[in-house]
Formats: sequence, structure tokens, C-alpha cells
Amino acid sequence: MANVSCQSFGKTKEGQEVDLWTLCAGDYSIQVLTYGGILRSFCVPAAEGSRDIVLGCETLGEYEAQDRYFGALIGRVANRIGGACFDLNGKHYPLAANNGPNCLHGGLRGFDRAVWEAREEDGSLVLTLHSPDGEEGFPGTLEVQVTYSLTEDGTLTLDYQARSDQDTLCNLTNHSYFNLLGHAHGSLGDQKIQILADAITEMDENSTPTGTILPVEGTPFDLREPVEIGKGLAMDHIQLKMGNGYDHNFVLHHQPKGPMKLAARATGGGLCLECWTTQPGIQFYTANFLEGDAGKGGACYGFRSAYCLETQIWPDAIHHSNFPSVVLRGGENYHHTTTYRVTAL
Ligand code: BGC
Repeated sequence: MANVSCQSFGKTKEGQEVDLWTLCAGDYSIQVLTYGGILRSFCVPAAEGSRDIVLGCETLGEYEAQDRYFGALIGRVANRIGGACFDLNGKHYPLAANNGPNCLHGGLRGFDRAVWEAREEDGSLVLTLHSPDGEEGFPGTLEVQVTYSLTEDGTLTLDYQARSDQDTLCNLTNHSYFNLLGHAHGSLGDQKIQILADAITEMDENSTPTGTILPVEGTPFDLREPVEIGKGLAMDHIQLKMGNGYDHNFVLHHQPKGPMKLAARATGGGLCLECWTTQPGIQFYTANFLEGDAGKGGACYGFRSAYCLETQIWPDAIHHSNFPSVVLRGGENYHHTTTYRVTAL
């Protein structure tokens, strides 16, 4: 069980108090902000002692000013909703177009910008959020609970639950940027990635899924065996050009929920990071829009200097009947679990 403590992290520009929670378990520790439920640090034992492997900002003001989603919890709907609108039960719901023609990561003020309630429960950190009916254009009042747990064997678990009083859409994830060489390393070096998926969802020039499920065989997306990320990025493929790098949903299951499954394994710097999930997809995103962003402790986060492993229901699922459903029925429970386990290689 982790040792849990809490300190103040200042106030948002609107005057809301924000706390920084710390969970320590053996040689591992994490810090989580009540602002955006952000995973601010993930310190793991490494050759030099302790290494922080997730990117983040130094101050609350910097978190508020950026739009990279560093470490944040994402909702109500992770990734893109094409055309920034959807129909549900015969009603049309317009949303904010905050990413070209799409609605990205929940809209203008997604869960990544909310101040969550937090409490300790049995050595875990429980974050809760009340999202009112109509927030960011989505129907139904949604009660959300995300629990962060950390164990001495280096397993960080995120358990996501939600319930709405009306039919709505729900697809929650975490947007941590990892670099196993250390958050401030500045490049991916020779880190490798393995993603246990036979297909990706093809996307168009707006990063919206076309509906086609593209087998990875013979493409840079064939990561079923470990591949050096830099070598994969250097390959020639129209989907990589469109994404400005890897920024794709890999298909893990065809159902909205599956058994816990190893989705991805990354290695580098003497460490191994495994991502397990019950979600049907994982967005592998190689930080293609970072451009020397200011980070923690004076770090500078350059182009493709980290990667995100965002477990999710497939992007734009509401517009594709062949995708797992993203509809959460009123009164039903939304629940999924993702773990990130870091061990020595
Ligand atoms: C998306 C990227 C986007 C990024 C924002 C990712 O989940 O797939 O296209 O730029 O989030 O940081």
C-alpha cells in the first residue's frame, strides 16, 4: 500500500485551490494534481537512483497556459469526434471544434482543465468530478471517479468509473508523455516500442478515422515485435505523413471492454514500461507537436521527445457502426482499468 500525502499547489487563475498529492510505494512514487487529475511525476528506480519518466510543467500557471494535455485525465470523450457534432436518440449535439473540424479531448474545457475533488482511500488516491448536463455540449449529468494506485512492484493503476443520468458518450483516458530516459532527456534515443495490435484505424488528413481498419502487416505500424521508435518514424508511409509521426489508434479488441491485456511494452535506459488495459484501443502518439516547450525544472521538451500511450475506445466511434460503441446508457456503469508497470530491464 502506498504512503499518501498532500500539499498545496496554489490557485488557478480563477482562484480555485489546487493540491498536489504524492503516493510513495517502495522505490516508486507519483505526484498527482487535483487540476486536471494530472500525473505530474512518476519516479522510478534507475541506475542513477531515481528517474522521473513523465513530462510536465513546473507551475500551475504553466499547466493552465499550455494545450499539450501533459499527464492529464481526458474526458468526456478522448480523441476526436469528427465534424464536432453527433446525433444520439434522434437529437443533434453540436460541440466545440477545437482541432480543425473536430472536437478533440472533450472540447474547449475538458476534464483536463477541471479541478477534481480528491481523497485517500486505502492507500489509493480517489479523484471525483461532477460534469453537469450539457457541459461542453454533451447530454446527461456525468459523475466520474478515477483512482490512482501505486504498488511497490512499480505498477501504477488507473481505474476509471462513470455514471450518467441520461444516455451520453464517455471515453476517458490519461495523456501522460513518457520518456524512459528521463522526462528532461530531450530525445527518444534508441527506445523501442512494441504494440500488440494487428491493425490500426486509418485516418484522413484531419486525423479523423475513415472507418477502414488497416492491417499493420508490412507497414511502420507493425510493432508486434519491438521496433526502435526512431526507425519506425523514419519509414515512408502516407499514414505517418498525415499524423506527422505516430498518432494512431491501434486496435486491441473489437468490443468496448475486454479482459486485461498487454497492449504495449516500451524499453530504454535500462527500463521496461508495460501498459495493460481493458480498453479496445490505444493511441500511440510520438509528441509530434512539442516544439521546445518549457517543462519541469527548466527542461525543454522538443519535437518527438516522448510518447503517449492513451488507452481508449476508438476515436470518433460515434460515427462508425463497425467501431466499439462509445455510448454510455443512462444509469449504466462505465468502467475500465489501465496499468503502467515500470521495472528494470
Ligand atoms: C492526439 C494528437 C494531439 C495530442 C494533443 C493526442 O491524443 O492524438 O493529435 O495533438 O493529443 O497533445
